[in-house]
Amino acid sequence: MAGRLDGKVVLITGGASGIGAAHARTFAAEGAKVLIGDIQDKMGQEVADGIGITNSGGQAAYTNLDVTSEKSWDDAVKKAVNMYGKLTTLINNAGLAIMGGVTTETQASWDKTIAVNQMGVWYGMKAAIPEMLKAGGGAIVNISSVYGIIGSPDMLSYHASKGAVRLMSKAAALEYATRGIRINSVHPGIIETPILTKTFSGGGPAVDSFVKAIQTRTPLARFGKPEEIAYGSLYLCSDEASFVTGAELVIDGGWTAQ
Ligand SMILES: NC(=O)c1ccc[n+]([C@@H]2O[C@H](COP(=O)([O-])OP(=O)(O)OC[C@H]3O[C@@H](n4cnc5c(N)ncnc54)[C@H](O)[C@@H]3O)[C@@H](O)[C@H]2O)c1
Repeated sequence: MAGRLDGKVVLITGGASGIGAAHARTFAAEGAKVLIGDIQDKMGQEVADGIGITNSGGQAAYTNLDVTSEKSWDDAVKKAVNMYGKLTTLINNAGLAIMGGVTTETQASWDKTIAVNQMGVWYGMKAAIPEMLKAGGGAIVNISSVYGIIGSPDMLSYHASKGAVRLMSKAAALEYATRGIRINSVHPGIIETPILTKTFSGGGPAVDSFVKAIQTRTPLARFGKPEEIAYGSLYLCSDEASFVTGAELVIDGGWTAQ
């Protein structure tokens, strides 16, 4: 059965959990050969094992990849090429969020957020693009956030990093437009994944009040599901999106339309 990603080889960061794991499952189901990269090895391996080989000929494997290390990136890109013969597609999805405002953000939380969310995306494009050029072209999706477009009062470094991802994607899209590599950003609203409890004090009342506030603010009146983000990236990475580059795809239940 032909899939929408037949012939594509995809590296997905942060694929052990949440939105990244949904990308791995969705992309493999559409015929892609997938390499999941993460620092949560056991969970990442379980996601890959759960996918195995799909009806459309897609498959998945796992490798340790710390997106803050250029050496780690080089190793992962080499592994994808050794396993599958080429690299055509990159999903820069690994990310984290730490609460903090102008005077409450710490140097450590700032540095960590920028290293993973912002520098990790740059390192990823830097490591993957030479192989995409060898493969005759490719597509990159950088996962930003609605928080890369609008502000909120208490996630300073997250906004800084996700806003940077939005514009880095456009700049890189322009740089590679004539060389067959399309680069777009995806901007999820609030999606039900483990990042929510990790960010909001490990559960409890802070999460509950956040949930209520977001549901009130979202026209579709619910959180999104990880698959609803993966389907957006699926389109952007397929040949159906051959005229789409430097674009930002917002998937937020209408939140930022208001
Ligand atoms: N869930 C949401 O509401 C939401 C909204 C907007 C944007 N996003 C973005 O979506 C992406 C995925 O988030 P999620 O909600 O699935 O969260 P998640 O916590 O479920 O998954 C994030 C993954 O990134 C991995 N990761 C963290 N640091 C890493 C590193 N240094 N190297 C490699 N992997 C690393 C984690 O191990 C984890 O598996 C993130 O970039 C996040 O900012 C999420």
